[in-house]
This record gives sequence, C-alpha cells and structure tokens, in this order.
Amino acid sequence: MRTVVIGAGRMGRRHIQVVKDLGLELVGVCDPNPESLALAEKEQGVPAKLHFRDANRMMTMTSPEVVVVASTAPSHCEYTCDAAEAGAQVVLCEKPMGVSLTECDLMIETCRAHDTKLAVNHQMRFMEQYTAAKEITDSAAFGGLSSVSVVAGNFGMSMNGTHYFEMFRYMTGEVPVEVQAWFSPEPLTNPRGAQFSDRAGSLRVTTASGKRFYMEIGPDQGHGMQVTYAGPYGRLTVDELAGKMSWVVREEQYRELPTTRYGMPYI
Ligand SMILES: NC(=O)c1ccc[n+]([C@@H]2O[C@H](COP(=O)([O-])OP(=O)(O)OC[C@H]3O[C@@H](n4cnc5c(N)ncnc54)[C@H](O)[C@@H]3O)[C@@H](O)[C@H]2O)c1
Repeated sequence: MRTVVIGAGRMGRRHIQVVKDLGLELVGVCDPNPESLALAEKEQGVPAKLHFRDANRMMTMTSPEVVVVASTAPSHCEYTCDAAEAGAQVVLCEKPMGVSLTECDLMIETCRAHDTKLAVNHQMRFMEQYTAAKEITDSAAFGGLSSVSVVAGNFGMSMNGTHYFEMFRYMTGEVPVEVQAWFSPEPLTNPRGAQFSDRAGSLRVTTASGKRFYMEIGPDQGHGMQVTYAGPYGRLTVDELAGKMSWVVREEQYRELPTTRYGMPYI
C-alpha cells in the first residue's frame, strides 16, 4: 500500500522503519525540519526524492492509501482530517489523539464521512505486560478487575498518562464516566520544546460499573513505573521498569468469604 509518514522525528523514523519492515510502499516523508529529514535519510535510507516539507503537497502528489501522522500533537487533527479528505484508506495517528475533545470528535467524524479507518497509536494493549496482566485479572482465581493504581515518577499526564488511560480501557473493557484530577501548578519541562505544556499530578477515574483507576505521578516523585491491579480474590503488582510481575490469590476454598476477610491464606 502506498504510504506516507508525516513528521520524521524520533517516532516518525520508527514508523518509517516499520513501514519498510512490513513491506508497505513508502512514497513520501514530510517534515518542515530539514534535520529530521536528513536523519530519515541517514538512518532509514529515505532518498531525497521522497522528502517533502508540506504535508498537503505530499498527499496531493503521492495519493497515499496509508497516512502515518507522527508529528507533534497540535497538528494531529488537521493532518488526520486532510488525509481522510485526500482519500486515504487508513490513518495511523500518534498519541495524544488531539489537543481537545472537539478535535478528537472532528477526527472521528471526518474519517467516518470518508470511510477512512483511523487508529491511534496506543500500543499498550498489544504489550505482554498488559496482555499477561489481563489474562490473570480475568481469571476465575483472581475474580476480575476492581481497581488499577499507577505510582510512578514524574512522567507527564499527557505524555505518558494518555497511555495509561487507554490501558485502563483495555483492561476493563469500559470507558471512563468520571474523572477527578489534581494538576501540579508548574508546567513540566517538555523534551519536544517550550511550546508544549504538560503537568504532573494525581488522578482518579471511574467506570459505569464502578471500576477505579488511580494515578499518582507527582512532581516530587523521581523514579519508577509500578502498577497494582486488585480484584475480589487477588492482587497483581508489576514493576514496569524492572520487568517484574508478582501476584497472589486467595486459596480457592476461601474465595467466597467476604472481601473484609482480606488476610485469608493465599497462593
Ligand atoms: N506511541 C508512543 O509510545 C509514543 C512514543 C513517543 C512519542 N509519541 C508521540 O509521537 C509524536 C511525535 O513524537 P516524537 O518523539 O517523534 O517527537 P520529536 O520532537 O522527536 O519529532 C516530531 C517531529 O515532527 C515534526 N513536526 C512538527 N510539526 C510538524 C508539522 N506541522 N508537520 C510535519 N512535521 C511536523 C518536527 O519537526 C519533528 O521532526 C508525539 O505526538 C508523541 O506524543 C508516541
């Protein structure tokens, strides 16, 4: 399939590599920054004839079937809508999907209107640290998932928090119905430039059936990514940096005792 990549920064260049690895036909790479294009040439061998500075010109000239939007967040909505209007069959847009819910709705509507498949690159639902955790929490021995608590270093509500919101949707199969958040007053220094604003803080999300998601990523926390999943009979903790997972469940004969009997013998 004829494929273009918009944005040739760190992620864009990884997408270019994947496009090549999948055997898709790369017909253009666009970035206003010549240094990014030069790196795409050096690292992925993208020849100068495929370099563009203007995304719309690239889409007009190349008629892509697949458009990968890997620029930074403020242009995600515009490029996704442009790609759908230009006739792309598939758009893969980097996270965060947009910078407002209005933008996200517009992206969905525009892609629907043009019969374009839209995916947002939240890869966590394909990663073993979540697929394995889901298998465990869904098991009869664990009894389902009641809450997820993320305690981590100061990794940004937008930059990494978005991945965890999506992970919670994957783990529960439900959408959030209520969100409470406490943002730190000072914006974070953002690696992509001073024009981007993100915050540390704390957050609680609930779903219609009462499942809870907590995230504590205060500006005064400087290490780690740890996730604890809790259910009626079990508790699972994942140290995501160390790649370690440990879990316990009540012995079977104690499962039906009330949750207040939280200290029953366990495996
Ligand atoms: N899914 C993930 O795990 C993951 C990981 C890292 C980054 N990301 C996301 O990928 C996106 C890119 O991040 P990055 O780390 O590659 O950033 P980056 O700063 O390394 O690269 C961004 C590139 O986009 C280009 N760009 C900016 N505005 C543009 C525009 N209007 N048109 C075309 N190109 C434009 C910049 O010149 C730069 O080369 C971000 O939205 C980020 O949140 C996702």
